[in-house]
Amino acid sequence: MKIGVLTSGGDAPGMNAAIRAVVRAGSLYGHEIYGIKDGYSGMINDDMILLNHQSVSGMLAKGGTFLGTSRSAEFLDETIRQGAVNNLKNRGIEALIVIGGDGTYRGAMDLTKMGLKTIGLPGTIDNDIAGTDFTIGFHTAVETIVDAIDKLRDTSTSHQRCSIVEVMGRHCGDLALFSGICGGAEFIVTPEHPMNKEQIISRLKKHKEEGRRHAIIVITENILNVHDFANEITDKSGFASRATVLGYIQRGGSPCPEDRILGSRMGTYAVELLNDDIYGVCVGVRDSRMVHLPFSNVVGQKRPKNEIYNLVKKVS
Ligand code: F6P
Repeated sequence: MKIGVLTSGGDAPGMNAAIRAVVRAGSLYGHEIYGIKDGYSGMINDDMILLNHQSVSGMLAKGGTFLGTSRSAEFLDETIRQGAVNNLKNRGIEALIVIGGDGTYRGAMDLTKMGLKTIGLPGTIDNDIAGTDFTIGFHTAVETIVDAIDKLRDTSTSHQRCSIVEVMGRHCGDLALFSGICGGAEFIVTPEHPMNKEQIISRLKKHKEEGRRHAIIVITENILNVHDFANEITDKSGFASRATVLGYIQRGGSPCPEDRILGSRMGTYAVELLNDDIYGVCVGVRDSRMVHLPFSNVVGQKRPKNEIYNLVKKVS
């Protein structure tokens, strides 16, 4: 079989591990693997290369995605999408493995309806995909954030300040939750676990009275303006506050072992599903086991609130 592979949406550490596994496992089973450049844009522009065992050598430890990625607005247009499908069919490519987030899966679901044998792998630092306990890239991003929190704590303690750390996640609080717990944050604010400003300010006032030298607040993006909030905390609680928006640094870096393993397992599993003529599904990991679910069960679905939320009030 000729199989295409692409990465789409925000890049995530471990995407290269997944591509590498698709290529290595695919070659082992006698398939030809085509790497499609820059996500769905490469499909539209017929920009793809034949990959072999050697082409993915040294890729396991590399961050980002060596195939490139994009958020292709054009791909939403059905005529353009049909052209992209034709590009694959003209090359005899009958199956496609896409690695990305919810937007990528929506595209993949449409492609399945258009007759392409499509499989999705969850690749995003946000951990916001239903049907999987973890997405490729999440653990590395948590490590990066924890490293930043540890450093911010040093300077916060020296200056007796409260540090607000805004992390990514779009509308999912898992990055804030996991990194906040690992970094010993005093407050964790997420879409699933909101806290009102007054609550935080009055607790900070108390912290100040008790003589505490620092406080860390980890907060998911898109909740409030963290710089304004830092000023409000300074004015109302007496705890001088500064905000740091971690931004794109969270998406970079060499993948940690969990993401290398997850990418390798998921890439291999996707090829094996195609071997069994199973497609129109996305791969996940549940209780450490590989699973797959139809796109329609996952796209647009919210993940249940993470069970480690119950740790927050016990250890923060
Ligand atoms: O989907 C991953 C993500 O990094 C989100 O956490 C963030 O909101 C978004 O991508 C940023 O997207 P862009 O790279 O298009 O600015």
